[in-house]
Amino acid sequence: MTTEFTTRITEAVVDSLDGTADPRLRELLAALTRHLHAFVREAEPTTQEWEQAIAFLTATGQSCTATRQEFVLLSDVLGVSMLVETINSEGRGERDENGERGEEAERDEEGERGESDGRGGVTESTVLGPFHMTESPARELGADIDLVGGGEPCVISGRVLSKDGTPLPGAVLDVWQANAEGYYDVQQPDVQPPGNGRGLFTADAEGRFWFRTCVPSPYPIPTDGPVGDLLRATARHPYRPAHIHFIASAEGHTPVTTHIFVAGSDYLDSDAVFAVKESLVQDFTETDDPSRAQRFGIPNPFRHARFDLVLNATNTPGARDSERA
Ligand code: BEZ
Ligand code: FE
Repeated sequence: MTTEFTTRITEAVVDSLDGTADPRLRELLAALTRHLHAFVREAEPTTQEWEQAIAFLTATGQSCTATRQEFVLLSDVLGVSMLVETINSEGRGERDENGERGEEAERDEEGERGESDGRGGVTESTVLGPFHMTESPARELGADIDLVGGGEPCVISGRVLSKDGTPLPGAVLDVWQANAEGYYDVQQPDVQPPGNGRGLFTADAEGRFWFRTCVPSPYPIPTDGPVGDLLRATARHPYRPAHIHFIASAEGHTPVTTHIFVAGSDYLDSDAVFAVKESLVQDFTETDDPSRAQRFGIPNPFRHARFDLVLNATNTPGARDSERA
């Protein structure tokens, strides 16, 4: 039902923002108002349903603690985190000082990204997630981030490169993963030592990195709060496919927050947070090579994932405004 009033109220609220000093804040609030009002006009929630929605958001806020961010989880399961991450890593950098999107960004939206699509181009990004909440310990190349053992041993290796193929010596890789049972160290402070599954590595003079770990497993996101209630009410499962998180950074380059996903893992096609991009799925190849196993300090045979992380130089199309010189 659209009466004259239900249209006019949207214009009135948007007009009331005219005095907002920050033009970007005005733009964001105006768009939020228009979309929220359009949602109400389309779905026509009853008063009781709206009260239920407010109670849900209140409970979501009340579930947040210093070590738990239920609002981030809500944004994750609704796909909003992935939208924000992807828009910011692929297109927003082409806004000019007036916030307008230039020709490059428009072309990108039409699928003409050229090399920057994660296939031979810069590494695609994906969600940060809520478990990067503690500093990763600095470790030597080749170190084992699985401090407990018990999982299937594997080696992760590759190079950090600029988009033109130049190796990036001194690039820093922040790595974190759940253990073989699917829990992060911070979720099991009484079971896992702090820093288990985490490492901060510096690439060598040729931009190479390598470290040991265990093959990760799929795991469920936390379901003991309002987001869990939402998943149950919508008959959705809470699982994420097996993955390892990375933040790769190098001087003069835009950092990338990403994962590698284990090829063949369950849930690759139904990630609870919609974070799988095909270019990030990597083979953890069964490798029977005693001399390489000895060099990596790992029992033979072992699983080996090899991939390069490719970063965009700042001041090149696709780099974020905030990271340009
Ligand atoms: C994670 O991969 O750590 C994660 C991402 C989003 C929600 C929950 C967990
Ligand atoms: Fe994770």
